[in-house]
Amino acid sequence: NEDQFKKVISHAKEYGYVFQSSEIYDGLSAVYDYAQNGVELKKNIRDYWWKAMVQMHDNIVGIDAAIFMHPTTWKASGHVDAFSDPLIDNKDSKKRYRADVLVEDYCAKIEAKIEKEVKKAEKRFGEAFNKEEFLSTNGRVLGYQEKIETILKRLGQSLEKEDLADVKALIEELGIACPVAGSKNWTDVKQFNLMFGTKLGASAESAMDLYLRPETAQGIFVNFLNVQKTGRMKIPFGIAQTGKAFRNEIVARQFIFRMREFEQMEMQFFIKPGTQKEWFDYWKETRLKWHKSLGLGADNYRFHDHEKLAHYADAATDIEFKFPFGFKELEGIHSRTDFDLKQHEEFSGKKLQYFDHEDKESYTPYVLETSIGLDRMFLAVFSNALVEEELENNTTRTVLKLPAVLAPTKAAILPLVKKDGLPEVAKKIVEDLKWDFNVTYDEKDAVGRRYRRQDANGTPFCITVDHDTLEDNSVTIRHRDTMEQKRVKIEDLKDIIKAEVDV
Ligand code: GAP
Repeated sequence: NEDQFKKVISHAKEYGYVFQSSEIYDGLSAVYDYAQNGVELKKNIRDYWWKAMVQMHDNIVGIDAAIFMHPTTWKASGHVDAFSDPLIDNKDSKKRYRADVLVEDYCAKIEAKIEKEVKKAEKRFGEAFNKEEFLSTNGRVLGYQEKIETILKRLGQSLEKEDLADVKALIEELGIACPVAGSKNWTDVKQFNLMFGTKLGASAESAMDLYLRPETAQGIFVNFLNVQKTGRMKIPFGIAQTGKAFRNEIVARQFIFRMREFEQMEMQFFIKPGTQKEWFDYWKETRLKWHKSLGLGADNYRFHDHEKLAHYADAATDIEFKFPFGFKELEGIHSRTDFDLKQHEEFSGKKLQYFDHEDKESYTPYVLETSIGLDRMFLAVFSNALVEEELENNTTRTVLKLPAVLAPTKAAILPLVKKDGLPEVAKKIVEDLKWDFNVTYDEKDAVGRRYRRQDANGTPFCITVDHDTLEDNSVTIRHRDTMEQKRVKIEDLKDIIKAEVDV
């Protein structure tokens, strides 16, 4: 829902999580900066992924390949020829759109009509209303559904066959108008490559045309044999990597969901040909478990198996997450066969084969890939965490219920008052904890206001030092989500926080 999404964006700014890039120059579209809290949350998500994938798997190692790669990489991978979006320009407004998105948005409008029908019927039938039954029997709704299916099918077929003239015809038939100017005056649809080009080299003549990598995966493929040999890795084994990727996205909207500069966390798992089905199932299950371990709610995930497969895949699924704007792709799991390694063998002229000592044979491994956007994961965690709660005394509080393991600040240490030696004791606690956890000290404003500030910031614990502390070496520890307060010994603080923060 749109209101909730607006709140997420403004909260991310107000509490130092995400800023628009170059904001003082009015920003750069679909480019964002992570602020003082955002950088911590992002790092914690990255670490949580790395721990689960690399540290916890004996047969997965990490690398950090460069963003620049030899330009032939992208010919071999298929990106030069096939990594593009179908674009259409509106002649009057001079605005550019993705043709498929225009059609999909049109279908979303029809879906909104279905939603309206449902709401109306719900009101009319009250308790007796059965949504499933209504959707499958109501004539008007069935008509809408059929229309959507027909349109999307035709779009899919045209894109698959690269019949861009048909996509244009579809837009015209549906009477889709430019969302900004209302004009129906469209150009032809053209394929537009999403890679950013740049140049390497000092002089104009010797400069080499390069691309900023559009995925981190290729840095793993080209290093496959280096890692296998130097790490003496036996199949099955994996190589994991996190890092920046760049795509000149045309539809730049939905905040950090779709960015032009973003970060991926990818893992390529090298396997024996013929075992891909089994490993596909294994990684589907393993990755969903990882997501669920964060406690964002099991109902917020679903798989979307691909029917239409990318040129490199023999099976693919997305883990979709319920974002404020609906279920959308969060992670991709792809069975990539030996496509990439074979392509790199062909283009480089170097063998990229594995010798299996047990079976005494050489082969080109198959690859199972898991690929998740770090920024998208950030948005999933952040938007899910932001809640407004009604309290008993008729007030509300804004809480960022981040999983404790990911929260930027684990505890805030608060002296009840700014005198009587309480700040000194509080600062001593900060000193004792800060090597193990990111903690903060706050003495400004009444303690109730400080609690609210930490709630909105996502800090799982507030630790308050009061006059009794001077007598009994105890403090009050308040839990963000339950607001429960307990009296505990200062010496026990480390273990109490650790128990919650470590998973
Ligand atoms: N190596 C496979 C690959 O790159 P992808 O489906 O194109 O596959 C994988 O991307 C993941 O990267 C997506 O599931 C998404 O989380 C993230 N991602 C892709 N494009 C993105 C963008 N423009 N902004 C933010 N995240 C993006």
